[in-house]
Amino acid sequence: MHTVAVLSLKGGVGKTTVALGIASAALRRGTRTLVADLDPQGNATSTLDPPYTDASLVDVLETPHRAVLERAIAASVWSDDIDVLVGSEELEALNEPGPDGRRLENLSRALDELHRLPLRGEPYELAILDCPPSLGRLTKSALVAADSALIVTEPTMYAVAGAQRALEAIEKIRDEHNPGLRPLGVIVNKLRPRSYEHQFRVAELRESFGSLVMPTGIPDRLAIQQAQGACSPIHEWNSPGAQEIALTFNMVLAKILRSNRAGRHRVNEPDEPEQASGTLHDVLPNASQKT
Ligand SMILES: Nc1ncnc2c1ncn2[C@@H]1O[C@H](COP(=O)(O)OP(=O)(O)O)[C@@H](O)[C@H]1O
Ligand SMILES: [Mg+2]
Repeated sequence: MHTVAVLSLKGGVGKTTVALGIASAALRRGTRTLVADLDPQGNATSTLDPPYTDASLVDVLETPHRAVLERAIAASVWSDDIDVLVGSEELEALNEPGPDGRRLENLSRALDELHRLPLRGEPYELAILDCPPSLGRLTKSALVAADSALIVTEPTMYAVAGAQRALEAIEKIRDEHNPGLRPLGVIVNKLRPRSYEHQFRVAELRESFGSLVMPTGIPDRLAIQQAQGACSPIHEWNSPGAQEIALTFNMVLAKILRSNRAGRHRVNEPDEPEQASGTLHDVLPNASQKT
């Protein structure tokens, strides 16, 4: 099982959209996946709409035992292959700063437990951790549990500074808690490819972070909101705009699964050459603005 944390400093940049886009790509690929909703706003849980559970991630973070996990995980409305570790607004209370004790490791313990003894049949190949909009304790516990971390940003003025802080947080957790943690990349969301300002900000990001910036950004498209409004995976939304975005999420998923070999729960796969990263410049001129 590979565990990827999806994070950013701010709300509204597209963490949940990216987490669900990757889950949608996983569904299309037949990759059994767990989405853990760490955001007290619970948007991932709302969209994936699992049946009522009498426990949530709050209980798992308090007591990371198998019996609690069983009560806090349910199949999404999308498919039996995409499960949800359900969020709750009570998570807010766990995000406050405090002594980083045992609890910071509890999500990691819970995922270890799922790896050791899979729930309901097939083991998960992927766990996606949808983080809240801060680098508080919830995001930290996601980074402690993760094999890799994906930073989401918009192409705006403070994008470089924000991504830098997120990378520093990743480094700190790697040094102090989780030596296997790797930054998977920085993905630019809500991109308007014809906007000179956006091109400038993307160039700035590439200058600072080089190939860590994902070669393809996610365009700003109404289709994303429409699919989310209908609780539908983006891969099943039938418009040219949605299909183009779906392809981008396929690429992100492929990158995550390639990095699997470096994960803490290794899957034995034949060696695959690392795909050379293109540049955002390479893809920007081809991206269109249709929805
Ligand atoms: N690429 C995009 N194009 C259009 N709307 C988007 C895009 N990405 C996100 N959104 C919309 O922006 C809002 C915030 O996105 P969300 O994924 O919930 O952000 P976060 O999880 O970082 O708070 C949502 O209404 C979502 O539908
Ligand atoms: Mg969110």
